[in-house]
Amino acid sequence: IIRAVIDTDPGIDDAVAILHALSSPAFEIVGITTVAGNIGIETTTRNAGRILALAGRSDIPVVAGATAPLSRKGFDTADIHGNDGLGGVSFPEPAVPPLFDAVEWLADLLMREPEASIDILALGPLTNIARLATDHPEAARRMRRLIAMGGAIDEPGNVGPKAEFNIAADPEAAAIVFAAGLRTVLIPLDVTRKVRATRDYTAALQDAGTVAAAASGELIDAYFQTTTGGESRPLHDPCVMLYTERPDLFVIERLPIVVDLGDAPDGGALFVEEGEGSTIDVAIKVDGAKALELLATRLSGR
Ligand code: BDR
Ligand code: CA
Repeated sequence: IIRAVIDTDPGIDDAVAILHALSSPAFEIVGITTVAGNIGIETTTRNAGRILALAGRSDIPVVAGATAPLSRKGFDTADIHGNDGLGGVSFPEPAVPPLFDAVEWLADLLMREPEASIDILALGPLTNIARLATDHPEAARRMRRLIAMGGAIDEPGNVGPKAEFNIAADPEAAAIVFAAGLRTVLIPLDVTRKVRATRDYTAALQDAGTVAAAASGELIDAYFQTTTGGESRPLHDPCVMLYTERPDLFVIERLPIVVDLGDAPDGGALFVEEGEGSTIDVAIKVDGAKALELLATRLSGR
């Protein structure tokens, strides 16, 4: 069983990824830490509590983290994820108030639990993880792996010609994390754009008969309405859970990665530079059909 903390800024696709992890027997989720990203910290934290309440898992702590990137002003993606961050889909209110502060909570957890027993599944900007690596390097080194959605390698970006949202929202944080010597697996747009929900897939989720699948179907349906892109939509953050559960569905390459620390439009773009970059594992290929099948299986409790 994979024991993990989810660090997240929910976010429509974050919510689907969290519901996958909560539905799958492969995971034991020990906590959810939140970060400002898709929307402000109050909303991402509330949303984490709402998702847990829907799943009947309010026993899992929600711990609020960074209110802003390390040194920049954040983006606002209300146009994509809605003013409530969850596309207007109805969720119950959190059953339990959140704890503070994510970085200290993560450090305590990693020092208390056996070394290399906890994965961090990062679905938003890497602000909390950078703080952890800077303020508590010993604790950070005790995590098993960091598996993070972010970046674009050969694909174009989604907030700049080469820049992807999670890295561009806090490029300094990404650079710190990649250089921290943690065992990091990066899941970039190159693979997340290959794991795409069609309208039929979305409708089948809505009819699958579980709370997690119905909510995921509604979330993806909302995403169809707020974004353009033809007949299907990429499921970015769920790819982190899919990789963690079934790494055999992905091809990983070890690459030397440099983060562009300049300004928009390409601040946060990633470059492969031999001899210069931080060496991390990057997912470059995925079996999209099998990944989608596993996601549907988990969400529908099969
Ligand atoms: C990433 O940006 C966010 O809007 C999504 O939740 C995902 O984590 C994709 O670039
Ligand atoms: Ca996200």
